[in-house]
Amino acid sequence: MKFFVDTANTDDISELAATGLIDGVTTNPSLIAKAGRPFTDVIKEICDLVEGPVSAEVVATEYDGMITEGRKLAAIAENVAVKLPLTWDGLKACKTLTGEGTMVNVTLCFSANQALLAAKAGATFISPFIGRLDDINLDGMELISDIRQIYDNYLFDTEILAASIRTANHVKESALAGADVATMPPNVIKSLATHPLTDKGLAAFLADAEKAGIKV
Ligand code: E4P
Repeated sequence: MKFFVDTANTDDISELAATGLIDGVTTNPSLIAKAGRPFTDVIKEICDLVEGPVSAEVVATEYDGMITEGRKLAAIAENVAVKLPLTWDGLKACKTLTGEGTMVNVTLCFSANQALLAAKAGATFISPFIGRLDDINLDGMELISDIRQIYDNYLFDTEILAASIRTANHVKESALAGADVATMPPNVIKSLATHPLTDKGLAAFLADAEKAGIKV
């Protein structure tokens, strides 16, 4: 499973990229707004920090504007994946941009039928939003499983990018359901390494080592 980091904070991206555990980055307009710097500068900087896909989202809502913005974003670096919303215009723009050889991440997916359309439009990635479905008492993980089954039934090569991940459990469940990629905030990525029994065991080993005067 690939791990993308869901942030526009270049300090966090830099730190995580150095671990070699990060395969790409996703951003959205809300995350870019938090960065408080010009959009294209932030995307360019992120693209220099990671080799994998960096999702940059358009803000136009109709086809022509999406194409203009998408081409502008794609020209920033080879690893830009243009992020388009899952709307009728977004699907049309997806078909055009992927036809030009640009990676496209279709975002704000909340149903299996939307994911089916995105695959038919040639999307490189489909982003089902797990957390936001859970927020309204629907089952985000069921959506990942449904999309996995549909894509396997028809051999679509669109990658399932589990998004809106809020917890370590979301990551495990997405991996079990067969998502190709999980994008998550830096704190969730770091939380995957922690377990209370690891901390407890390490403290006991270190106490014993000190008592016995063990040195390496
Ligand atoms: C993914 O590409 C989105 O930017 C992100 O996962 C949204 O997460 P949120 O629902 O926690 O805002």
